[in-house]
Amino acid sequence: MPDIKPEFWEKICEVSRRLADENDFLVVSHHDADGVTACAIMVELLTSMGKNTDYLILKQLDSTTVAKVKEKAGKTIVFTDMGSGQQSVLKSNGIEGFYIIDHHPPEAEYVNQINPHFFGFDGGSEISASGLCYLTAKSLGNTSMAHIAMVGAVGDMQDSDGAMKSLNRLIMEDAEKQGLLKVRKDLRLFGRQSRPLVQMLTYASDPVLPWLTGDEAACAAFLEGLDIPLRVDERWRNYVDLSSAERNKLISALYMHLLDYNIPEFVIQGMIGDVYTLLHEQKRTELRDAKEYASLLNACGRQERPEIGLQVCLGDRGENWYEARTILKSYREALAKGIRALKDKGMVQQRENLYYFDACGDVEENIVGVVAGMAYGAGIIRGDKPVLAFADDKDNPQMMKVSGRGNRNLTRRGLNLGVALREESRKCGGEGGGHDIAAGARIRRANKEDFLANMDKRIGEQLGKGK
Ligand code: C5P
Ligand code: C5P
Repeated sequence: MPDIKPEFWEKICEVSRRLADENDFLVVSHHDADGVTACAIMVELLTSMGKNTDYLILKQLDSTTVAKVKEKAGKTIVFTDMGSGQQSVLKSNGIEGFYIIDHHPPEAEYVNQINPHFFGFDGGSEISASGLCYLTAKSLGNTSMAHIAMVGAVGDMQDSDGAMKSLNRLIMEDAEKQGLLKVRKDLRLFGRQSRPLVQMLTYASDPVLPWLTGDEAACAAFLEGLDIPLRVDERWRNYVDLSSAERNKLISALYMHLLDYNIPEFVIQGMIGDVYTLLHEQKRTELRDAKEYASLLNACGRQERPEIGLQVCLGDRGENWYEARTILKSYREALAKGIRALKDKGMVQQRENLYYFDACGDVEENIVGVVAGMAYGAGIIRGDKPVLAFADDKDNPQMMKVSGRGNRNLTRRGLNLGVALREESRKCGGEGGGHDIAAGARIRRANKEDFLANMDKRIGEQLGKGK
């Protein structure tokens, strides 16, 4: 049974008591699914308490974007999903009296900071920023957004071992108890709610289905061979429309298919795991499944429309929901284009301890990290080394954005991309940070070669292959 340590709960209660005494807020958050859900939970909490609440969503908090925060001086600033790793930037820019609710590795202790690392919890896998905002709300008696916290955790892939654990599990149970969420073991392919069966298989990337992924006709034939009707009347059937006998038949057939192609057993087993259904959302829509919901929010945030995703989290099922689906469509196209470019142009290169690709001009900086992560599932790179992806920095042609992605196997062996990117980017005229498994940075373009060589050496050291 997971447990929240009393000293951690006491810290949350202490910080939220101080928060409750303030009146005029600015919530500053990160643009991905976890950041947007964290922001939504705080905005809902504060407005329900009658507080004046504004928000600002940034692609990252650094020495450039901190100017936008400074413009709002006078408000009580609450940083969510950011801030812990940027305390020195905040202080050197004269920002004071702020709160931090963040799961990234912290630079230092700070009185108004809620961060699980100080209490022995891993912010990469045991709790997300939205989960921390939920616990803050819970300490003030508001548990209405527990399901939204789960969307944030799924967005940060905190269930990548097949189930939620630790503090995430506690929040999951809160959501279940309130009838907001149902959790069951099932097929974890993306699109189980909203995609017609053929599309679900055609676009499967985690894992890739040999001879099926990317081939619509082969997927249709595969399903027809199982006697699973693809449509009923005029309507295409989605996975959630299948009977449990049909689901079992499809799962067994996929299992056998992957075994036939010698896909490792653990990859096949990863296809089955907990799936999270948001019970108050309409069936067959993206919002009914936590993974699809998170993808919708990532689409909005990473395409510079985070406020649309935020309004959806706050309950808008009108204009913003419609707009979000349009944005999701172009996001999927951008990701597919990115993956195609990686494959067709043979962009991926390798050093001794890492893979890398330069997507400048092909993939935008905001989504290059997602494309890098997908490259594993798509079989473009193997899981034996982490990957670094470079893209143009939109705001400064002399700089480059770098995204790093790894996997649990590598972090268990000592990989820490957050530390490596923070320290090595600093030496190359930039700044960065993040988690052990996923991190990002900005570096000077002129220093790219040095940076790559240093990262190769640094990752080798982390993986115990010191040279
Ligand atoms: O800023 P933040 O912590 O929310 O970003 C975490 C990023 O790491 C997300 O883009 C998430 O998809 C990625 N991630 C990953 N693999 C994991 C865990 C997280 O790619 N196993
Ligand atoms: O941008 P990307 O999705 O690759 O970011 C992955 C992780 O690295 C996120 O947790 C993000 O907050 C962090 N990051 C950072 N500093 C940057 C870029 C990303 O701390 N300059």
